[in-house]
Amino acid sequence: MGQLDGKIALVTGAGRSVGLGIAQEVAEAGASVAVNDLHRERAAAALKEIKPAGGKLIAAPFDVANLEAVRAGIAQVEKELGPIDILINNAGIPEGIGASGPFVDSDPADWHFNIDLNLYGSMYCIRTVLPGMAARGWGRIIQISSGAGSRGVANVSIYSAAKAGIAGLLRSVAIEMARTGMTLNAIALGLMANTGERMGDSPMLQRIFGTIPMGRLGQPREIGACAVWLASEQAAYVTGQTIHINGGSVHGR
Ligand SMILES: NC(=O)c1ccc[n+]([C@@H]2O[C@H](COP(=O)([O-])OP(=O)(O)OC[C@H]3O[C@@H](n4cnc5c(N)ncnc54)[C@H](O)[C@@H]3O)[C@@H](O)[C@H]2O)c1
Repeated sequence: MGQLDGKIALVTGAGRSVGLGIAQEVAEAGASVAVNDLHRERAAAALKEIKPAGGKLIAAPFDVANLEAVRAGIAQVEKELGPIDILINNAGIPEGIGASGPFVDSDPADWHFNIDLNLYGSMYCIRTVLPGMAARGWGRIIQISSGAGSRGVANVSIYSAAKAGIAGLLRSVAIEMARTGMTLNAIALGLMANTGERMGDSPMLQRIFGTIPMGRLGQPREIGACAVWLASEQAAYVTGQTIHINGGSVHGR
């Protein structure tokens, strides 16, 4: 018996990295999983890596930052798998946006990339599945966030603003929906292995290692395991919370 047997889950941005690890854990816990990604081929390739444990797997390519695409994409998922019980909003790194920098140098014309994906994209998905979950009396919304949403991190200010914004929305909506059988929670990540790999063996990475008490980076499946627990019956009394998974890094200041 898996913890999520019979449940239907949608994981956004699950074509690779953190989202793929989450989709793997959720599928191994018995859920049917819709693997969303902006890139059709990435979502399709991810299906080959995921080992379902009783549930079904489908690719669900659509742009979460486009409301019409979200509505159509979620309708298609529900047609193929059934009503979504678990939404995991993971997509949060906008495509084609280069390195960030100090806010003082930022171009207001670029701010929307992070806001569109992390704030609007997440809200579009939540707003689309919420009425059905409430009507059925059960639902789980899990938001993948970042330590940057609750503490200052230089050079990622717009991303931080978007992550903090969606955290605020979750806390409020968790209260609004608290008597419907739904829970809404966030998992805030520290630096993960995929980002570390992208940085190579740079002085910056060495500095970051020095700030992580465990002296290592996070693995996608560690995030997935937490998502499975939050989605399970065992976490039914947990709502409106943010769980930090970061190897013991200090957050909140
Ligand atoms: N990797 C880290 O170190 C780290 C740290 C803190 C928080 N996070 C958070 O974890 C989440 C995943 O990050 P990651 O490093 O795995 O990202 P990633 O860029 O490696 O993968 C994200 C996936 O999302 C997809 N995507 C991008 N825009 C999309 C859109 N509009 N619609 C649908 N899919 C879209 C991409 O195609 C990609 O496959 C994000 O929310 C990020 O903010 C990551």
